Amino acid sequence: MQLANRTAIITGAGSGIGRAIACRFAAEGAHVVVADINDAAGMETVAAIEDEGGTARFVHTDVTDSVAIEAMVSQTVDIYSSIDILVNNAYFCDGGDILTVDEALWNRNISGCLSSAFLCCKAVLPHMIDQEKGAIVNIASVNGLLGLGEEGYSAAKAGVISLTQNIAVRYGEHGVRANSICPGTIQTPAWTAVREKDPNVFDRLAKWYPLKRVGKPEEIAAAALFLASDQASFVTGTNLIVDGGLTAGLKRMGEELVGAGNS
Ligand SMILES: NC(=O)c1ccc[n+]([C@@H]2O[C@H](COP(=O)([O-])OP(=O)(O)OC[C@H]3O[C@@H](n4cnc5c(N)ncnc54)[C@H](O)[C@@H]3O)[C@@H](O)[C@H]2O)c1
Repeated sequence: MQLANRTAIITGAGSGIGRAIACRFAAEGAHVVVADINDAAGMETVAAIEDEGGTARFVHTDVTDSVAIEAMVSQTVDIYSSIDILVNNAYFCDGGDILTVDEALWNRNISGCLSSAFLCCKAVLPHMIDQEKGAIVNIASVNGLLGLGEEGYSAAKAGVISLTQNIAVRYGEHGVRANSICPGTIQTPAWTAVREKDPNVFDRLAKWYPLKRVGKPEEIAAAALFLASDQASFVTGTNLIVDGGLTAGLKRMGEELVGAGNS
C-alpha cells in the first residue's frame, strides 16, 4: 500500500479522472476526501470506494468559493488530523476564441481552473508546512502547452503549470512537493456532450496520437499516484505529460506539413 493512512483531498472526484484518482488512492490505503460540487456524483464515488473496503468522505465543495474551500479543509483536519495530499482536478471549460468569448466567460475559465487551484493550495499549504511534508498534484492539460483552442481554459491550464512550479520552489524547504500532470484526451463524462454530436470523436482524435487511441482515467490516476507517493520523493516542480505521445511530435500534423516519411 503506497498511501497507507495518508489523507488525500481530491477536488472534482465525483467523476472521470478525479473519481479514478480517488478510487486508486483509496485502494492504496489513503483516507480520501471527495470534494465536489455535485453531491450525488461525489457520494457515488464514496460508495464505490467503500464497496472495495476503502475509506472516503464526501464534502460538498465549490472550488471557486474560498469560504467553502476553507470549510472543507477544516473539516478534513477535524476528521483526519492531517492533510498529506491535495489533488486539484476540478475545472470549468467553455467558450471558443478570444473574439467570441466575453469577459464573464473568460473569468469563469480562469476561476474554475486556475484560481480554484490557487485557493485550494493556499488553504492546504499551512497544514503541510506545519507537518513539514505534503504532496500537491495539479491536473493541467496539454492545452496548457500548445495552441489547441479553448483559449480561456488553455491559458488557465498554462497558469496551473506555473503555479505548480512556484509552489515547488517556494515550499520545497518545508518538505512540500508540487507537480502537475498534462493529460491528453481522456475518455470521461466531460466528453458526453461532444460525443452526442460527434459519436466518433475519440476515433477521429486517436489518429493524432502515436499510440492510436485516447486515454483512460485510470492512466492519469496511475501518474497521480506516482507523484503523490514516496516513489516520487525527489520529484518536485515537474510537469508530467501523460498524452499517449501527442505532444512528442504531433506526427500526423508533421506528415501533413512536410509529407509522410520525410520527418
Ligand atoms: N478528459 C479529458 O480529455 C481531459 C484532458 C486534459 C485535462 N483534463 C483535466 O482533467 C480534470 C478532470 O476532467 P474530467 O474529464 O475527469 O472531468 P469530468 O467532467 O468527468 O469531472 C469533473 C468533476 O469536477 C466537478 N466540478 C466541476 N466544477 C466544480 C466546482 N466548481 N467545484 C467542485 N467540483 C467541481 C464536477 O462535478 C465533476 O465531478 C480537469 O482538470 C480537466 O481539465 C481532462
